[in-house]
Amino acid sequence: SPFATRAASSNYSPLEDEYGGAVDWDNLGFGLMQTDHMYTMKCGKDDQFKAGKLSPYGNIELSPCAGVLNYGQGLFEGTKAYRRDDGGVYLFRPQENAIRMQIGAHRMCMPSPSLHQFLDALKQTALANYRWLELNTQIPPPGKGSLYIRPLLMGSGPVLGLAPASEYTFLVFASPVGNYFKGGTAPLDLYVEDEFHRSSRGGAGGVKSITNYAPVLKAIGRAREKGFSDVLYLDSVNKRNIEEVSSCNIFILKGNVLSTPTPNYGTILEGVTRKSIIDIARHLGYQVEERCIPIEEMSDADEVFCTGTAVGVVPVGSVTYKGNRIEYKTSSELVSRKLYSELLGIQRGMSDDKWGWVL
Ligand code: COI
Repeated sequence: SPFATRAASSNYSPLEDEYGGAVDWDNLGFGLMQTDHMYTMKCGKDDQFKAGKLSPYGNIELSPCAGVLNYGQGLFEGTKAYRRDDGGVYLFRPQENAIRMQIGAHRMCMPSPSLHQFLDALKQTALANYRWLELNTQIPPPGKGSLYIRPLLMGSGPVLGLAPASEYTFLVFASPVGNYFKGGTAPLDLYVEDEFHRSSRGGAGGVKSITNYAPVLKAIGRAREKGFSDVLYLDSVNKRNIEEVSSCNIFILKGNVLSTPTPNYGTILEGVTRKSIIDIARHLGYQVEERCIPIEEMSDADEVFCTGTAVGVVPVGSVTYKGNRIEYKTSSELVSRKLYSELLGIQRGMSDDKWGWVL
C-alpha cells in the first residue's frame, strides 16, 4: 500500500519552472527545479539526530569552517517517488538508501539518521511536494519524469584542524527530473579513461561520499569535448578491469551470462538499480556474475548497459579504448530494455512487486 494518499486537488497553484513559465514536462532533463519544501534534521555532540522539520525550500546557512566545506565530510543519496492513478505516493526500496547512508556515514566518521528517521524524512519530503507528482501519473512516457529525492548528510559544525565535525545536518530536497542524458535513453558512447580513476582500493568509492564526484568532472569534460556521452573508468591498480561510469554502474551481457564489476575491493558503488537488475535478471533465468571484468572482454560482449537511480537503465552503443571503437547492437530487442521495463513496471505499480520493493 502507498505510504500516503491524497486526492489530487485543483487547489494547487499551477506548477511553474524557475522562470515562472509552465513546466515543460516533455523536455525535462536532469536539472534542479525548485520544489516547495525541504526537510532538515540536526545532530550535536551526543550523535543523536532529533526534531527534524519541513521548511520552505531555500538556501541554508553554514559556518565557513564547516567540515563539509573544508574537508568534504559529506554523503548524498538519490531515490525517486512515484504517484499512481489512485493518488498514492510510493517509494522504491528507500531502506536500501537508508542502510547505504549508514554504512557511508561510518566510513566518513559521521553519525547517521536511524532507518525510521530516514524513511520518515523521505516520506514527509515527498508528501510536502505532492503537487510535483501530479503530472507523474501511472505511465509517464520516457522523458516525462519523476520526483527525484536527494538526501544529504554533512558535517555542518566548524572544524579547523582535520577532524570530524562537531555537528551534523541531514537534509532532504526534491526535484522533478526527466532523462539524465541529453539523448534520453538513446545508446551511450563511452570513452575509456586510462589516466583518471574514479576510485581506488582503500578509498571511499564504495560509499556515496561527495568526494567521489568532483574529481571525475575533468574526465567527463574531456570525453564530452571529443563527442562521447560519458566515461568508463578502469581500476587504479591494474588499469585493466572496468569499474563504473561517472554516475552509474555498468553491466555486460554475453549469451545468458550477465556480468558486473565486483564490489569486493570497495571501489564500486552498489547501486539500488544495480541490485534490482541483478535480481530481475536472475528471476528471468540469466546467470549473473559479480567479478573482475578485463576491458578486453568488452569486445566480445553482446550488450553493454548502465544502471543508476538517476540514469535508469541505458544501453551502451559504443566503447572506445585506446583509439579502438567497439560497437554494440542497439535494436529495440535489447535485453537491457526488457530488464528496464520489468523494473519500471514494479516501480510504477503495473507489475507484480514480488520482492516487496515498493513502499
Ligand atoms: C543517482 O543515480 O541517484 C546518483 O546519485 C548519481 C548522481 C551523480 C546523479
